[in-house]
Amino acid sequence: MDELRRAGVRAAEIAAAHLEGVPAGPVWRPVPAAERAWLAELPLPEAGRPLDALLDDVGAHVLPYPMGNGHPRFFGWVNSPPSPAGVLVEPLAAALNPSCAGGDHAGPLLERTVVRWLAELVGFHHPPGGGLLTSGASMATIVCLAAARQHAALADGWDAREEGLHGRPPMVLYVTEEGHSCLHKAAQLLGLGARNVRKVPVDASFRMDVGALRTMIADDLAAGLRPFCVAGSAGTVNSGAVDPLDAIADVAAEHGLWFHVDGAYGALGVLDARSAPAYAGLDRADSLALDPHKWLGVPVGCGCALLRDPAAARAAFSLVPSYLVDDNADDLGWFAEYGPEQTRPFRALKTWATLSYLGREGVTRLVEHTGGLARTLAAMVEQAADFELLAPVATSITAFRHTPATDGSGGPGGLDALNRALPGAVQARGNAFLTGTRLGGRDALRACFLHPDTTKDDLAILLAEIRLAAKTL
Ligand SMILES: Cc1ncc(COP(=O)(O)O)c(C=O)c1O
Repeated sequence: MDELRRAGVRAAEIAAAHLEGVPAGPVWRPVPAAERAWLAELPLPEAGRPLDALLDDVGAHVLPYPMGNGHPRFFGWVNSPPSPAGVLVEPLAAALNPSCAGGDHAGPLLERTVVRWLAELVGFHHPPGGGLLTSGASMATIVCLAAARQHAALADGWDAREEGLHGRPPMVLYVTEEGHSCLHKAAQLLGLGARNVRKVPVDASFRMDVGALRTMIADDLAAGLRPFCVAGSAGTVNSGAVDPLDAIADVAAEHGLWFHVDGAYGALGVLDARSAPAYAGLDRADSLALDPHKWLGVPVGCGCALLRDPAAARAAFSLVPSYLVDDNADDLGWFAEYGPEQTRPFRALKTWATLSYLGREGVTRLVEHTGGLARTLAAMVEQAADFELLAPVATSITAFRHTPATDGSGGPGGLDALNRALPGAVQARGNAFLTGTRLGGRDALRACFLHPDTTKDDLAILLAEIRLAAKTL
């Protein structure tokens, strides 16, 4: 253990020095060919090496080439910097190395607390056992939609796990055109069929058109299909839009549909008093996906599925072979009965640490700060003649595009091509990182704010970088 103690102290110093140095370095830089080869083509070592030598390698070949999300000017996708508390306890979770499938030890017990805390934070109903941590929202969505599928089948008097879906009226899932791809993947994986996922149109603010939802459900019922679930978004990945959750909950209640909310990124937005009214109805959902590894900054990977009725997930997944029977388990049983994973990592420790370090107040300040940055950037965009805001700010994402059309460089096609090329060009310059998307049929830029240290000056740098990058295209 002396070797681990010595190298561990050094590893802690390396981690702290890395995080300290991130703001002064490039946000992102390409991996040179030699380093790329070192990383991707390493031969399997015959002989082992000392721990210290491994740290030398990490320092030389890994840490210099980060994704960029630790930097205050990283605005891409939905990737946050790691919370210091999460970084602190990750090695301790590894030292303990439990499987949180279940059993009587610290991991599953702490997971009960953490899941309850997450539900409390966003004001979601929390019965005992009403949720579990997952690898991310993609897995949480699979858990929730599997629960919804089995719930609908049992309500109709059959068992989807036993019979499979063959020969039954197709179950129909409703998401918006802006719904995350993980909803489609989950539906496909669960055997629902991509053709039975309806893309409900959105309004000018990219929120679900609830009238269109009603029409689609009526059409599907008339066609003999089985509408079973509607998934709203509390923070879309493209623009951060929050669907009219209350109105969707009304429709779900009228038709006996499961109401799922994808709050993977945006559920925490409810903590900002300015955006909270848009979240009315969140507490009426049957299930909610919420990612601690997004806005909260818990180190990747940690998602969470919250369920109004935990029995629904258990009915969808519980399968306890004789070698896993635990006569000492309480009524809730094992976490492994509520999702597809058997061996489960100790995700609760880093989430507990992050929430304990920040407290509700700290999380609220983070959400307010980053939401404020998105609104400020939107105002800057609106004031600039060569930028156009594409969506109202609902959470902490600003969707916009560069429109330097007055010099004759852009028609509609030209602006699309320009904005499609811009993210890569901005990234290559190394001073800011943003990504693009298509929004309302147009190529768009989107900046997602999650970093507590991003400042208003960084927003000005971002716009300057976009202008400079455009000139190189
Ligand atoms: C709105 C939304 N839903 C779902 C997901 C999928 O989450 P994960 O990548 O944790 O599986 C994302 C990821 O960015 C997201 O932004």
